[in-house]
Amino acid sequence: MAAERGTARVTCTAPVNIAVIKYWGKRDTDLILPINSSLSVTLHQDQCHPIQLRTTTTAAACRDFTEDRLWLNGEEVDAGQPRLQACLREVRRLARKRRGDDAAAPLSLSYKVHVASENNFPTAAGLASSAAGYACLVSALARLYGVEGELSEVARRGSGSACRSMLGGFVQWHRGERPDGRDSVAQQLAPETHWPELSVLVLVVSGEKKAVGSTAGMQTSVDTSPLLKYRAEVVVPERMTRMARCIQDRDFEAFGQLTMQDSNQFHATCLDTFPPIFYLNDISQRIIALAHRFNAHHGRTKVAYTFDAGPNAVIFMLEDTVDEFVEVVRRSFPPNSNGDQFLRGRPVGTAVLPEELVSAVVVDPVPGAIRYILHTKPGPGPQLLDDPSQHLLGPDGLPCRSA
Ligand code: DP6
Repeated sequence: MAAERGTARVTCTAPVNIAVIKYWGKRDTDLILPINSSLSVTLHQDQCHPIQLRTTTTAAACRDFTEDRLWLNGEEVDAGQPRLQACLREVRRLARKRRGDDAAAPLSLSYKVHVASENNFPTAAGLASSAAGYACLVSALARLYGVEGELSEVARRGSGSACRSMLGGFVQWHRGERPDGRDSVAQQLAPETHWPELSVLVLVVSGEKKAVGSTAGMQTSVDTSPLLKYRAEVVVPERMTRMARCIQDRDFEAFGQLTMQDSNQFHATCLDTFPPIFYLNDISQRIIALAHRFNAHHGRTKVAYTFDAGPNAVIFMLEDTVDEFVEVVRRSFPPNSNGDQFLRGRPVGTAVLPEELVSAVVVDPVPGAIRYILHTKPGPGPQLLDDPSQHLLGPDGLPCRSA
């Protein structure tokens, strides 16, 4: 009962983000300092749709807890992992700074914590699960300890891309210059309301665990790829400025082209890594070719793909293109059996494709190659869930329901 009375619990959700100027490579692997700046779009957590891309995390602290414990998707895992401990240490440091040595503070910083986290999308499949995961962890811990303000620096210690999930809309992560990383922070370029017509389709081609994780992959690239060095020093600084302008001007044509080029250059640096890393598979390549045929048919950039460290495609387009492009994807990759679950997320209207579009764009269909399409939008940053029934940990600090 004492535990029940004394357990403080906070639950947050945090979004996935998708980079349009990619982060790949660290100059400091401990502090997670990147070799180049990056820019991303935060995806909506869409509470009102049954399938969303988001992480939910409950953090609990209590005098009676004897060790830090962590559950991921219902399974207990090692809470001693250095990145988790770095986030915990940093949040506690900020809390200590804020409180001074206030002995009457409601929650002792020496209490152990229990953390439970759930993703509703394939983990480690190149769908930025670590970004949402660490952003959510840091948001929940910060609330638990009453810490406010700049937290992207803390989330960065969990996973580089996580610092960008601390904010909604269009987000820049400045590489920074300082060796201590104090200036390597995320900053919102524009809120999600800035470009309401921008739409996103995630084409899930595989839920398999990726062959080479980002952390190991990017380190091999830093060690061996001359192209990556050139990219970080010369290409990205100019692209960051240009991409920020495309977003400010809501110029889809320019935004889309640069998004595709930057994705392609990231995958080129993977091929330039020795031994090479392949994240794109045959289906990813077919999606790329399809997007280019679609744009060529329309005579302008209507859709723009980007791929992270996995084969799934994220495709940007304006709202008025969604229905038609979804139908093109459905014809090109006809669903096998789960036709009713093929389209998830926000609603999509029906489209009748003109015959000349079909013959020019839909070539050589591959049945079953895409598992499902998720329709989403840019969205806000981490959210606090007020409803106690949504806690993933009970008053005893143990998971209350399975994933
Ligand atoms: C290809 O942030 O997962 O998604 O900092 O080692 O945790 P660590 O890597 P991570 O790398 C993401 C790489 C990327 C590009 C991006 O999101 O910018």
